[in-house]
Amino acid sequence: MKNSNQRIGLFDSGVGGLTVLREMYRQMPNESLLYFADSARLPYGTRSQTEILDFVREILDWMCNQNVKMIIMACNTSSALALEAVRQEYDIPILGVILSGAKAAVKVGKRIGVISTSATAKSHAYRQAIQEINSQAEVWEIPCPKFVHLIEQNQLYTAHTKNVALEYLRPLLNNNIDTLIYGCTHYRHLEKTIRSLLPSSVKIVDPAEHIVVAAEKELSALGLRNKQFPFPTHFYVSGSSKQFADISQQWLGYKPRVIQIPMKKPLSEMMALNPVE
Ligand code: DGL
Repeated sequence: MKNSNQRIGLFDSGVGGLTVLREMYRQMPNESLLYFADSARLPYGTRSQTEILDFVREILDWMCNQNVKMIIMACNTSSALALEAVRQEYDIPILGVILSGAKAAVKVGKRIGVISTSATAKSHAYRQAIQEINSQAEVWEIPCPKFVHLIEQNQLYTAHTKNVALEYLRPLLNNNIDTLIYGCTHYRHLEKTIRSLLPSSVKIVDPAEHIVVAAEKELSALGLRNKQFPFPTHFYVSGSSKQFADISQQWLGYKPRVIQIPMKKPLSEMMALNPVE
């Protein structure tokens, strides 16, 4: 049985999902939240679907034990590679960011660029979702493997980051996109840099804003909107709690208290440690 005053769980590989968390604070200030950053296994964007599924199931099991009422994958890579499979496996509403982003983009554009991790780009989850809504829309999906690391290192405004961004955006500019989707929750943190490289006519869609609208609708339909005063957000990480607290302060406006919890080592790393003869 779910109660309206239970927390909503959000997760990402790192600080990217804070862009969704901030939207939750803005649009649904009554809700109590729990945020998990799987920073020990970051980045997700270069991993296989098997690994992502494994991580996501471990996180969902843990979140269900924390007694949350809904889970938001504040991560495009997990949404693209794991959402469909795990939705049937858990008795709790689980939302991903991709459909909300695709729906918002087709409302404003027809020539749509998507910047994302390599795994999300390779899955073509955005192209599929967009063209299911509007088969006439043109979609260009660009993998941006260097972005997550730069953001996690807090290199947001350096000349190097700007050059990297231009390298990724150039093919989209050459194709005269009218709309750009942040297909990775980390990228909103680069907004100033990205915006400065785009003509002002290009509209930017941040799925973080739209997933919160979807979450609100679903909670209302289930009668699970919190009507009481919210609890302070709980933060958990699988990597360094200090690093997460230090970097997230600028986006949260306060330094969070962060608890470290252990997660399994990725299979690929275990095999590297114990190679099979
Ligand atoms: N922020 C995540 C996403 O939206 C994952 C980034 C990563 O760890 O590669 O895809």
